[in-house]
Amino acid sequence: MDRGAVIQKTERFIESEFRLEGSGHDWFHVDRVRKMALRIGEEEKCDLFIVELAALLHDLDDWKLNNPEHQVGSKAEKWLCSMEIEVDTISRVLGIIGEVSFKGAGVETPVKTIEAAIVQDADRLDAIGAIGIARTFAYGGNKNRLIYDPAIDPVMHNDFEEYKNNMAPTINHFYEKLLLLKDRMNTNSAKIIAEQRHNFMTEYLTQFYDEWDAKR
Ligand code: NI
Repeated sequence: MDRGAVIQKTERFIESEFRLEGSGHDWFHVDRVRKMALRIGEEEKCDLFIVELAALLHDLDDWKLNNPEHQVGSKAEKWLCSMEIEVDTISRVLGIIGEVSFKGAGVETPVKTIEAAIVQDADRLDAIGAIGIARTFAYGGNKNRLIYDPAIDPVMHNDFEEYKNNMAPTINHFYEKLLLLKDRMNTNSAKIIAEQRHNFMTEYLTQFYDEWDAKR
């Protein structure tokens, strides 16, 4: 199967899988991650086919969107095996999917290949800035969380279990994840984009607290 056909088929599959996703992990998120990954990928020495395929499949097995018994990579593996593609491609893409997700403030998530680094950066960029803010509140609402409660302080999660079981208000998520992402980018081009998006979020928070306290 040629590469263009693999991408096109996968794109259609993911679009139908994620159409009714209301927690900020919808098809348009996947599509933005794919576009950003390709943009970053242009600046790096990498395999753009692997980057694009992994970006399209990166959320299919995410712990946030599946039940707790779900095995990481199993849906993506099933999909990849349904197409005529090389075993090596399948294992490279599955390797990336296993590496990209954020698992808590104090939890390191190192990547082994440049392709994984790129997809991770693209996914993390979509979690910050104006879109990141929108997605964060969509996710919080989807989980019935409060927008903000001044009495509940943010916490630094030391392991994945702790992070996963967190029920804190959405504003806390800025401190527990979003504001940490700028320093966790792998590639130079992502670092530059992250800086600007980060500054936008800090301005947003300043305005948020001022409005909260009836100061403006
Ligand atoms: Ni994602």
